[in-house]
Amino acid sequence: MLILGIESSCDETSAAVVRDGREILSNAVATQIAEHRLYGGVVPEIASRRHIENIIPVTRQALDDAGVGMDDIGAVAVTYAPGLIGALLAGVSFAKGLCYAAGKELIPVHHLRGHVASLYLTHPGLEPPFIALAVSGGHTHMIKVSGYTSFEVLGRAVDDAAGEAFDKVARTLGLPYPGGPEISKLAAEGDPSFYRLPDPHTSGEFDVSFSGLKTACLNIVNTAAMKGEEVRRADLAAAFEQKVTDILSRRLIAAAEEYGLPACVCGGVSVNGELQRKCSAAAERKGIPFYAPAPKLCGDNGAMIASAGYYEYAAGSRAGLDLNAYATLEI
Ligand code: KG4
Ligand code: ZN
Repeated sequence: MLILGIESSCDETSAAVVRDGREILSNAVATQIAEHRLYGGVVPEIASRRHIENIIPVTRQALDDAGVGMDDIGAVAVTYAPGLIGALLAGVSFAKGLCYAAGKELIPVHHLRGHVASLYLTHPGLEPPFIALAVSGGHTHMIKVSGYTSFEVLGRAVDDAAGEAFDKVARTLGLPYPGGPEISKLAAEGDPSFYRLPDPHTSGEFDVSFSGLKTACLNIVNTAAMKGEEVRRADLAAAFEQKVTDILSRRLIAAAEEYGLPACVCGGVSVNGELQRKCSAAAERKGIPFYAPAPKLCGDNGAMIASAGYYEYAAGSRAGLDLNAYATLEI
């Protein structure tokens, strides 16, 4: 069965055609990053407008690239939560109109379920159960994936999400948005041991906290400015990346060990090389299988929504034309 997946929760407008939840026939993405970069972050009003402009051409491209028409599509899956409300509404409204016009069924997809499904597109043999650490700009969730549509959140970021922390520290260092890849690039030239960053405390076993680290970085930059000293930007970027990836990889492997399940990462931050290396090395030491999405499937894309949509459809999930979008929603 072919599913057309539509994603518009943040700053990428994307549409994709996926067969049986696993095989990508097309995955068209229109990114708005260059425009939001001018403002140092995503401007919600601009994001909504660009989604409205891009959604029809991107969907056409996804169908063309797959060499199919709407007649070949079994159902349409759309991200309806969580995310920027105006951005989500652009995708949801379009998907509803398309389903009405083409006589197709509509499947509502939770954005994080989509990130989890990016793993199915990359690893054909991977099936639940497993532990997935979903790390993105808006979320840091340790998820026990018991089935394709069965999820339990074991822990989460109690303050800033991992991607958000990368973006904020990058801004402090004068780096452009999005900060994750910029910090990572700069960190490659730095010495992670020059600056000492604190070890954040959390009460939940699989919770994480990044705001203290972010504040510590800000203090280092401000103190240096007051003393008229240069900040060693590459060293600070390296110390920060080191700390965040240490925390995330340790928590993931601890959860996988406790539940006796494979360990996975997904979401925009999961493309981070240091994070993948640490998880992979720690998993290998413990004899735990480790999986990450293909790099182009880590960030937001329609294919992961189509994949998740396939499994939601199989489980009987359908939305009516009264489907709404939600800025926040539990997985
Ligand atoms: O999943 P995603 O594309 O969008 C959301 O659902 O939020 O994730 C975007 C986040 C941004 O915060 C970005 O800075 C971060 O992923 N990111 C990275 C890297 N590439 C993107 N974080 C760390 N290292 C990277 N290489
Ligand atoms: Zn995302």
